[in-house]
Amino acid sequence: MVRHFLADDDLSPAELTDVLDLADEVKADRFAHRPLEGPRSVAVIFDKHSTRTRVSFSVGIAELGGYPLVIDAQTSQMGRGEPIEDTARVLDRQCAAIVWRTYDQARLEQMAAASTVPVVNALTDLYHPCQLLADLQTVRERKGALAGLTLTYAGDGANNMAHSYLLAGANAGMHVRIAAPQAYAPDAGVLSKAAALAERTGGSVAHVVDPADAFAGADVLATDTWVSMGQEGESADREAPFVPYALTAKAVEIAAPEPVVLHCLPAYRGKEIAADVIDGPASAVWDEAENRLHAQKALLTWLLRQEVERR
Ligand code: CP
Ligand code: NVA
Repeated sequence: MVRHFLADDDLSPAELTDVLDLADEVKADRFAHRPLEGPRSVAVIFDKHSTRTRVSFSVGIAELGGYPLVIDAQTSQMGRGEPIEDTARVLDRQCAAIVWRTYDQARLEQMAAASTVPVVNALTDLYHPCQLLADLQTVRERKGALAGLTLTYAGDGANNMAHSYLLAGANAGMHVRIAAPQAYAPDAGVLSKAAALAERTGGSVAHVVDPADAFAGADVLATDTWVSMGQEGESADREAPFVPYALTAKAVEIAAPEPVVLHCLPAYRGKEIAADVIDGPASAVWDEAENRLHAQKALLTWLLRQEVERR
């Protein structure tokens, strides 16, 4: 079976460690890995806006010896309703992998079901697993290990980042707290999947309504925009409920000593994160953004190795 990366738990805990170790190797010797030499092409498709994902996949695929074929879905036949399965069948004859940023997770699953090459989630409404690889690499760099650390994510508990923190954090044996209003609680199915995973890795997961309880003693503090792509029409309603969950200097003060502050970016200073926090000494956000490159190169290298072993 071809291996895809559609959700954070598509890697087992041991495989996650392998990919993160490889990410450190790739970072230390940036041009040593050339699994796409040829060049072989990787399709990178966008249904939504992107800066980091577009740049890091394009640069990363080129550095792996390959050709990044960046496709704007709107100007391709996908934008005119060509079936996802037909698109997969065309792309997999010519590309070594398919990377896709889209809306519904089910669309990505449809692509994967029809593709004979690995499909990678470059963000859906439900998950953002490539971002989590970079986040975990960043935390490991600062803290040495992941298992046993407490990570608090505060804000929209029902968005892609919250769900990926739950699954990836549990996979890494972390204690994940999602601080969010009851109306924006994580998806119950994702929460219970993460809880089952945490049970096996020695981690834990919780939805916490009181933000001070969630920030207290946390080793990692993370947040994300209150208005995700596709929710622009709800902007007016997506402010007041989240104000108490903002990542401010007070949150940093009550966290564990030397906490690591994460934000996937783009950030809205003065909304979900205070300017003195994102631009302050605890912030790891620029390393986190750079690590998208290394972590995704590692992921693609790892997926292509599975392909070689499979054939
Ligand atoms: N963090 C992230 O995925 O950024 P982009 O939306 O710019 O790709
Ligand atoms: N939750 C955000 C993440 C952006 C990288 C969004 O989906 O817009």
